[in-house]
Amino acid sequence: MKFEGSHILSVNQFDRESIERVFDVANQMAPYAKRQKRTTVLDGAILGNLFFEPSTRTRVSFGTAFNLLGGEVRETTGMSNSALAKGESLYDTARVLSGYSDIITMRHPDSGSVAEFAQGSRVPVINGGDGANEHPTQALLDLYTIQKELLYHGGNIDGLHIAMIGDLKYGRTVHSLSKLLCLFKNIRFTLISPKELAMPDAILSAIENAGHRYTISETLEGNFDADICYQTRVQEERFGSQEEANLYRGKFRLNQQIYTKHFQSKTVIMHPLPRDSRTEANELDNDLNMNPNLAIFRQTDNGVLVRMALFALTLGVENIVNKFDKEVHWYSGH
Ligand code: NCD
Repeated sequence: MKFEGSHILSVNQFDRESIERVFDVANQMAPYAKRQKRTTVLDGAILGNLFFEPSTRTRVSFGTAFNLLGGEVRETTGMSNSALAKGESLYDTARVLSGYSDIITMRHPDSGSVAEFAQGSRVPVINGGDGANEHPTQALLDLYTIQKELLYHGGNIDGLHIAMIGDLKYGRTVHSLSKLLCLFKNIRFTLISPKELAMPDAILSAIENAGHRYTISETLEGNFDADICYQTRVQEERFGSQEEANLYRGKFRLNQQIYTKHFQSKTVIMHPLPRDSRTEANELDNDLNMNPNLAIFRQTDNGVLVRMALFALTLGVENIVNKFDKEVHWYSGH
């Protein structure tokens, strides 16, 4: 895969070699993210960070990653604050904003919208989530986290057993992650969701065609030998009404007691976040916060490394980042 100058729209673009390339570069970014040193390799470069859907960590971590490489960030948030609300096409917005930026990251509520936008862009576009379709950078950071967590327990991704729980229909993170996992060997998927929120057939076929196994369940029953438990939020913004979303909220709660009952003591707990902590949902209870296998905040930290790597690769500076090293002068709590 050629990174320099390329859009990153889907995990379908990746093979194992290109994933390893991203992870290698991400590893090299750790000293910068930990503020042990800084780099100005992207001094003068501008990121257009366009978020037409709610986001906290994806938007801020894209911006942080770009800043950590020495670049500047220009941002627009919300549909109503942008010219799209005045009827401007994605193509026109892309033509205009790509004139102001060296690279663009974008989130939008419609499936396929980021790819459509990319057609009008003169600079690389990175998909930060397009409707229920894909979230490639989240999948890469999830996979990077899985690899690190498994390595800690002496394992690797080939032969992995992952339980995915919750809204598997609208959850774009589980769609993209499943497709990436298909590139590995002998993966076992346990897919737990209400029938109405089951994993889409296209993903099930991709799993099957790649020679992996999956089992589907509507309840969290029995004892899983899963290496990873990947919990998700009911994507209420994609339902016709709040009442419909409420039917499914809180169906699959995970707390320490449920975890102990169904999972191994070493099962790693993941969630793309935000976790819905309202009483009626509470899908990942605070009583898991002290559980050493709760990897959710390691995921968010890893997100910065992976996004730095993607910026460095798409802008073709991955081999010269440390030529622009500078000292850190301030107190750092990292
Ligand atoms: C996810 C998303 O937006 O798809 N969050 C994220 O990017 N970290 C999942 C979610 O919102 O539930």
